Parts: sequence; structure tokens; C-alpha cells
Amino acid sequence: MNASNDNLAIVTGASSGIGLAMARRLLEEGYSVIGIARQFPAATLQHAHFRSVELDLADLDNLPAALKQIIDGINQPIRLLINNAGIGKMGYLEQLSIDDIRLVMDTNFMSHAIVTKSFLPLLKQQEELADIVFTGSEAALQGARQGSIYCASKFAIRGFVQALRQECAKSAVRVTIINPGAVRSAFFDDLHFEPAGAKENAIEPADIAEILLTVVNARPGTVIDEINLSPQTQVWQRKDK
Ligand SMILES: NC(=O)c1ccc[n+]([C@@H]2O[C@H](COP(=O)([O-])OP(=O)(O)OC[C@H]3O[C@@H](n4cnc5c(N)ncnc54)[C@H](OP(=O)(O)O)[C@@H]3O)[C@@H](O)[C@H]2O)c1
Repeated sequence: MNASNDNLAIVTGASSGIGLAMARRLLEEGYSVIGIARQFPAATLQHAHFRSVELDLADLDNLPAALKQIIDGINQPIRLLINNAGIGKMGYLEQLSIDDIRLVMDTNFMSHAIVTKSFLPLLKQQEELADIVFTGSEAALQGARQGSIYCASKFAIRGFVQALRQECAKSAVRVTIINPGAVRSAFFDDLHFEPAGAKENAIEPADIAEILLTVVNARPGTVIDEINLSPQTQVWQRKDK
């Protein structure tokens, strides 16, 4: 990866959907990007300033050591940390296994807390403007049927973000959460429902990438705390499984 690009972004969940769109947009803007996901199929993203790291963020026991290895290999300031990776396991609570519950909480909340904790000392020491941006959800704002654990994981992230923002206020680190409604992505591949086909029924990942730029380009000294966005209409369809 060419180290001459001044702005470095770390993007979790960069192999698909929102994270991939964010990585692409940041590369267009001249950032260097380190993307993290469990798997990057060869065709995902080829760019001189993109490096993929294959890592299971839900493997919490091994996560701190894996993150240390990434951090030790970084030799330029980090401008942006995006905690975006996530999964959905939807269903009535009785239909979810203990393993489902643990996996959702570990992936959607615990891993983000550990990733942030690992990068934060470096971000603060840099004394340069840095943004930590989380992909929350409309599920962080309002509980909904068949989403008990997913909503819990996203409410947890939102509370974490609010506290962290205050903890970072005296540093040059800003903390933001973006809360989308339905986004058309692989998120729905293993679910029994998805947004219906019309374009008004889902946000596009590229839309979130544009919002990200608004967040990052805010005047230093101003923090965009939270952005909520929804598709214009909210029509869902069941999938034949
Ligand atoms: N789609 C929506 O309607 C919607 C709405 C609001 C919020 N969100 C949130 O947006 C975020 C991104 O979702 P998306 O819609 O872009 O879905 P997606 O296309 O399925 O992307 C999810 C990303 O997270 C990664 N990931 C999942 N588990 C991981 C793990 N254990 N370790 C490392 N990476 C992991 C996936 O890569 P691998 O599978 O290769 O690991 C992938 O890159 C999630 O936090 C989701 O909750 C989605």
C-alpha cells in the first residue's frame, strides 16, 4: 500500500454492502484504506491504496492480539475508524438460540467496543483530527418485533457512542453514529425478508458513503453526533426460502 496517501481509514465490514461502498468512496477521495472482514473474495476491491485483512471480529479471545498486529504495522496517522461490520439474526426470541444471541452481541457490539478500545490510545496520541464512525441502525432507535437481540446490540452501540463522545471531547477525536433504515445489501441474504424491489424501499450503500463524507468533512470543532436516514417508503417482502 502506498504510504504517501496522508489520510488512512480503517473500515470493518469492508467486503460487502455499506462498508464496501464506504471503502470505495474513501479511495476515490484519496484515502488509503485498510478493510477488515472474514473474507475478501478476490474480485472485491483491487486498488493500490487498499489493503484487506481477513479477521473474524466475533472471535473475541483472539481479537486484541490480531488488532495489535494491524496497529503495529501502521506508520501514518489514522484519520478515520469505521466500525461497521454487523449481522442480523431475526426472529421471535424463542426462535433464537443462545449461540445466535451471543454471535449477534459479539459481532455487533462487543467487537466494536474492543476495536475502538484498541485504536483509541493511538487516535488520542496523534493529536490530529480523527473520526470514529459507527454504523448503527434504525434498530438503535426503536425496538421492533423479531428484532429483540439485533435491536439490543444496536441500542448498546448507540449508548456506547454517546458515552464515548463525551470521553473524547477533550481530544481531537470525534464520535458519530449513522442510523440507516433498510439498506439494499447482502445483509438480507440469510434472512426471511428483504426490502421490496422498488428503489424507494431501500437506501443504497453508496448513499451511506456520501453521508460518511459529510461527517468526516465537518469543520474541525463541530461534531455530527448522529444521522438518521430512511428509505422513502418502507415496504418489505417475504422471501421464498
Ligand atoms: N442492510 C440494512 O438494511 C442495514 C440497515 C441498518 C444498519 N445496517 C448495519 O450496517 C452494517 C453493514 O451491513 P450491510 O448492510 O452492509 O451488510 P453486508 O453487506 O452483509 O455486510 C456486512 C459486513 O460485515 C462483515 N462481517 C460480518 N460478520 C463479521 C465478523 N464476524 N468479522 C468480520 N467481519 C464481519 C461482512 O464480511 P464477512 O461476511 O466477509 O465477514 C461484511 O463485510 C451492519 O452493522 C448492519 O447491522 C444494515
